[in-house]
Amino acid sequence: MNQVTAYLQEKTKAIVEESKMINGNFKGKDIVSLDQFSVDDLRILFTLTNKMKQIVVNKEPLHILAGNIVSLLFFEPSSRTFSSFAAAVKRLGGQTIEIQDPETVTSVNKGETFEDTIRTFEAYSDAIVLRHRIVGSANLAAKTATSIPVINAGDGTNEHRTQTLLDLYTLYEKFGRLREEDIPGNCDFWYWTRIQKERFASLEEYLDAMNNGFMVTPELLHRYASKDMILMDPLPRVATIDPAVDADERAVYFRSQIRNGLYTRMALLALLLGKADVNA
Ligand code: CP
Repeated sequence: MNQVTAYLQEKTKAIVEESKMINGNFKGKDIVSLDQFSVDDLRILFTLTNKMKQIVVNKEPLHILAGNIVSLLFFEPSSRTFSSFAAAVKRLGGQTIEIQDPETVTSVNKGETFEDTIRTFEAYSDAIVLRHRIVGSANLAAKTATSIPVINAGDGTNEHRTQTLLDLYTLYEKFGRLREEDIPGNCDFWYWTRIQKERFASLEEYLDAMNNGFMVTPELLHRYASKDMILMDPLPRVATIDPAVDADERAVYFRSQIRNGLYTRMALLALLLGKADVNA
């Protein structure tokens, strides 16, 4: 395992610097880093996200990805990211190849390399969505699959770009602004997240960290939170938020945040696959 990690990290060292900026043109781009997006790019994405939301709420059928196949390769467990990407492709009229735990169910299990695995799914797909525990794996996949976009759906402790995009959209939806300087001082949000057990070297270290964590409770909100704030959590919730908090209107994780993942990913896929008119 350590050899694989070292190999991937070595191979991807220089690639991050080569990431291409979006600059208003999403078509065919890999999504590996938030640094690729300007405020104007976010505005394009979120304008389309608003439209996708209305389409889903109105249950309007869309066929813009008809004839397109997107491979979802998830080397780490996922509920929201995996299923929202799967739902996004299907809501847009496309189809998916859905592989959870490729190390068990694909020829990776027989010793096929990561790069050959990516080349294989590139041959069958119009885009690849990748989650992997190893930092740099999305960059390596993007460099390997040169003919289609690769979307980083989380590479270990590094980046989870589409989570950041949906979180930013959730804030944009609430506060209506994108630039930091435009956001008034009284705008308030709390971002809570679990301590990630899978990132610790030992159970002991994880339990130590858990001892220092604390949970959001109704009392804590009552005491410290403003009435206009929102409470976000990317989920899963693991001893981070008391379920009694869910009833509070300010808790948006189940109210809007997870659904925003669907709308944002629909917009992103439509743009990357060249199926959205950004000027419409
Ligand atoms: N927020 C998030 O990434 O959730 P999943 O791990 O369930 O995809």
